[in-house]
Amino acid sequence: MRSLYVRSFGSKLIWGLVSSFVIVVCVGLTAQTEDTRMEVQTKNWEGRGIENGAVLFANNCATCHGQQGQGLQGVAPALNSRYFFTRRLGDVGQDGVMTLSNYVYLTVAAGRPSKDNSQWANRMVPWSSQFGGPLRGDQVVDVVAYVMNFEETALQQTASEDPFQPFLDVSKPPEFQNIGISADAEWTPVQLAVTSVLPMGDRDPDYLFGALACSGCHDLNEPQAPSSMGESGPNFGTIHELGTYRPEAAADPAAYLKESIMSPDAFRVEGYDDAMPDDFASRMTEEEIDRLVQWLLDPNRVTHTRDAGGNIIDE
Ligand code: HEC
Ligand code: HEC
Repeated sequence: MRSLYVRSFGSKLIWGLVSSFVIVVCVGLTAQTEDTRMEVQTKNWEGRGIENGAVLFANNCATCHGQQGQGLQGVAPALNSRYFFTRRLGDVGQDGVMTLSNYVYLTVAAGRPSKDNSQWANRMVPWSSQFGGPLRGDQVVDVVAYVMNFEETALQQTASEDPFQPFLDVSKPPEFQNIGISADAEWTPVQLAVTSVLPMGDRDPDYLFGALACSGCHDLNEPQAPSSMGESGPNFGTIHELGTYRPEAAADPAAYLKESIMSPDAFRVEGYDDAMPDDFASRMTEEEIDRLVQWLLDPNRVTHTRDAGGNIIDE
């Protein structure tokens, strides 16, 4: 007891200073760990945003932009691309005007108006509910975070690995010669590995058409005519009259369609290469394929608007 009693003023002062110092150090340490704790927390939030974004991307964007954002020739440009991260803003005259993440955000939220002479099979629709699209504001933010997250891998790409496809309406910058696929290069079709979120079994045909990326290559509204065959795959706007323009299908259109889906190589439509994935027979049940065929042949077929989980949201 006695030994704890501090007698002289000098010792009191020293003890006081020492304890203040200890307190300052402790507060400092707490603040510092608090900082790292908050940083970790922010990272967690960002991480979760990117994770949500990854699911949204797989369900809504991969059909056209590819599962790894590598793009799909004639369907949609590559996003996981060095060129995209380093040159694209310059192409559209926005270098130093906006950031790439704003550019991505605006494109995703508001879409791109249809262009008469577009090189892409389908247009990029608005995704934000603000512009009549299917995603909430926070979902758009998450999917944008996911796209921006490609940057790290994209910047490591060599010129020949860069999957960027030139936009035909943008003048080719000189450096373009060194980047990826050139405007007139032969392309090898990208095999899509899109998985759908609803379990295999009794998924609706209109869901499958989107979830398995058929919509990335086949337009459901454009008619099939000599002047409008379809760029990435035959147009399906008049597929209920298949027998009239596809002699091979005249006898039994349903059987022809089923075979086209299950073994695309059995019969190759003239003018196309083997871009159509050949693994659909393992990604749908036979009943699902039969219903998909009936749906395609129905001139009054319905296509629903769905959320990221595949649930119908327009009823
Ligand atoms: C139906 C096919 C399709 C789907 C689905 C689609 N896009 Fe696109 N996207 C396009 C096309 C086509 C373009 C090019 C539009 C143009 O002509 O400028 C594009 C452009 C973009 C661009 C700008 C690329 C550039 O270099 O200027 C971004 C970013 C983008 N899409 C992100 C997304 C995201 C994120 C999703 C999912 C929420 C998505 N897209 C879904 C077809 C699609
Ligand atoms: C990557 C592009 C691509 C995707 C994805 C794709 N197709 Fe195709 N599809 C093609 C091409 C190219 C052809 C024409 C060449 C051929 O006959 O294989 C074709 C042909 C067809 C035909 C024959 C059409 C006709 O007019 O004779 C049917 C039916 C068909 N596809 C259905 C589907 C369905 C259903 C899906 C989704 C489950 C799908 N395709 C996904 C590219 C694609």
